[in-house]
Amino acid sequence: MAGEYVIEEMISAKAIAARVEALAREISAHFAGTDKLVVVGLLRGSFIFIADLVRELDLPVEVDFLEVSSYGMGTESSREVRILKDLRGEIEGRDVLVVEDIIDTGHTIHHVLEILRTRRPARLEVCALLDKPSRREVDVRARWTGFEIPDRFVVGYGIDYAQRNRNLDHIGAVRFLE
Ligand code: PRP
Repeated sequence: MAGEYVIEEMISAKAIAARVEALAREISAHFAGTDKLVVVGLLRGSFIFIADLVRELDLPVEVDFLEVSSYGMGTESSREVRILKDLRGEIEGRDVLVVEDIIDTGHTIHHVLEILRTRRPARLEVCALLDKPSRREVDVRARWTGFEIPDRFVVGYGIDYAQRNRNLDHIGAVRFLE
């Protein structure tokens, strides 16, 4: 059970909206001319970010979703992810943008990219709203990152703590009470 905690605002809804708009401009410029961008949201944490991001893209897009298990039990070196819900569509020869809420150790996105690469997309890029570089265990980078954040436990804008607080309109840092 989650103990008592308070949530301190770290990134306001307004700051997120401005950053999402800027990211969408860069992504639209990068993929300009494509007629086949597939935007893949990693469930569940990316559901709000992807909803806002695709509405700002000036491109024809398809939206698809992938859900993978977190590694939980594995030792650090044996961490693997398992597909819980696969994409509905084929991505071979397509331009693919993976949308992630947060890159922490990097294991999730590293494995997702490995899986998707075997399906031979034309281009495969990542946009992550949040990045905690200080926690990285595998060398992965998103081409686009919304905000670099310190090593705090964060919630909101899709991100949960014990499955709660995903519906906050901002990013908050959890402070646990004694
Ligand atoms: C979180 C988050 C990322 C991943 C990042 O997912 O959404 O997918 O962990 O961590 P990593 O870089 O250390 O691998 P979680 O397993 O909590 O699932 P959720 O998206 O359904 O909340």
